[in-house]
Formats: sequence, C-alpha cells, structure tokens
Amino acid sequence: MKRDFLRLWDLRTEEISYLIERAIQLKQGVDSQKCPLIGRSVGLLFEKPSTRTRVSFEVGVYQLGGQAVYMTPSEIQLGRGESIPDTARVLSRYLDAIVIRTFQHQRLQEFAQHSQVPVINGLSDLHHPCQVLADLMTIVEQKGGLEGVRVAYIGDGNNVANSLLEAAGRMGFTLTLACPEGYEPSAEVLDEVREGSGEIMILRDPREAAARADVLYTDVWVSMGQEAEAEKKRERFRAYQLNSALLGCAKTDAIVMHCLPAHRGEEITDDVIDGPQSVVFDQAENRLHAQKALLEWLLGG
Ligand code: CP
Ligand code: NVA
Repeated sequence: MKRDFLRLWDLRTEEISYLIERAIQLKQGVDSQKCPLIGRSVGLLFEKPSTRTRVSFEVGVYQLGGQAVYMTPSEIQLGRGESIPDTARVLSRYLDAIVIRTFQHQRLQEFAQHSQVPVINGLSDLHHPCQVLADLMTIVEQKGGLEGVRVAYIGDGNNVANSLLEAAGRMGFTLTLACPEGYEPSAEVLDEVREGSGEIMILRDPREAAARADVLYTDVWVSMGQEAEAEKKRERFRAYQLNSALLGCAKTDAIVMHCLPAHRGEEITDDVIDGPQSVVFDQAENRLHAQKALLEWLLGG
C-alpha cells in the first residue's frame, strides 16, 4: 500500500529515527553510487513559490537517478478548473510520487485520497513536515541526539510550528513555544501531540520560553498567503524578535534555527542569523539529504 507524507504525525517514532540516520548517511556519501529512482519520475506541483523545497527536491531526485517534473497550476489544467481528484488520478498514471505545495491542507488530503502514488507535503498552511524532518536531522548533528533537548520556538503558531509540535510528540524532546494571544498553533494538532512523548508548553513570554533552551527557532511572522494581515501581524509580533538579548536567555551553546526565507530585521536580526550560533544554512542544506532519505524509503530503495 502506498504511504503518504502529509504531516510528521503520519510517521512512527522509529520511522523518523530511521530517516534521520539515513539522511546523515546520505550526506556522508554512503551509497552515493546507488540510483534507487532510476526510471522513476517525481512530480512537483507547487501552488506557492519556493526556493529550498523545489530545488532540493529537483536535485535530490536527480541524484537518486530519477526525473523531477515541476508544475504550477497555471501551467496545467488544474488552473482552468480541472478537479483535484481527476488531476490526482491522471498524474498517478505517469508519476511514481508527487510533492505538493498548497494552501488549505484539505487540498492535499483530497489529492492523496485520489492518488495511487505517494503524496508528499511540500508545505501547506497547516504543516511543513519535510522542513521539520531536516530540522530534526540538523539538531541530531549539532546536539548528538534529540533526547533531553529543549527547543524554544518563538513566533507565529504556523505550519512550521505545527510540524515541530508533532516532532516533539513523536521524538520526545521538550518544545516551548512563545506566541502572542490568538496566534497559537492548531488546537487539533495540540490535542493530538499531547498524547505523544514530548513535553509541550505554550507561553506568552519569549524570554521564559528561551530560558535554558538548546535550540532557538523562529520563522516569518507573515506566511505565504497572509499578506493582507502583514501590517497587523508585524505590530503584534514586535516583542517576539529573535535578537541577541533573547539569545542571551538561552544556554550559552544554544543553536539558532530558521527554516528560511528570513525577513531580516523582523523576526530575526542580522547579528543573530549571521552569528556563530546560527546553523540556518546547514539546516537548509539538510533539506536535500532528508528528502533523499524520504524518497528512497517511500519508493522502496
Ligand atoms: N523553508 C522552505 O520551505 O523554503 P522554500 O519556501 O524556499 O521552499
Ligand atoms: N511559514 C512560512 C514557511 C515558509 C517556508 C510560510 O508558510 O510562508
């Protein structure tokens, strides 16, 4: 039976651990001559812009011996009203897997329901699981493991935050999230992850969240599709900037993470993102390795 990867919660703890370890091996060049995707094609259907996700998937598929086919709605009949079920049924006849970046998470679920090949979430308004898979790999590289790690997420309770919560629930680390009132992560996700193994706290005070953190993580205040709320959100989030004062509340060896793209001077300052504690570009690189591990696993290496 095909497996989809629509949210991190779709994977069991041991599956996530396997993918992290395999991604680290692939980064080290293990099995670099193997081409598990030879003769296979992976579709990339993107309804929002992307730098990292698009390029790391295209390059990753190529490195595994396969072919990537990039599509935007305006270039295919989806943009002229062809239904999601019909698009999914047709693309399943050509492709071996499909990565989708979209707005409402339900679009992805509907696509997956009608697709005969694995569907991978390349970001929806609700989740960003490929990002967080690479983030977990980055934390393991930097901190030697996930056990006992304290992650503080400062900012909007958005797609990245929801996926980080699911990661904490599955992998058992501590996640403290500080956000303004009204910008909490999804209540549904919170309910589910509280049954998991991680300790999860939602706070208002960013300094309280950052205290004793091993990892300080932030993301943009205005996600793709929220442009109409930009001014209001910038005002609401002003006290949630990841700057040197906030970094000073964390452990002295804390690392700084951001999924990128960053809005420098808003959610994070230049000195912090460019400083010695920042691992943001290793984190970006790891998208490639983590997604190669995912594709190899989903498509039966
Ligand atoms: N972090 C991330 O998903 O970046 P892109 O929007 O550039 O793909
Ligand atoms: N939360 C951001 C992540 C971008 C990678 C967005 O959805 O725009």
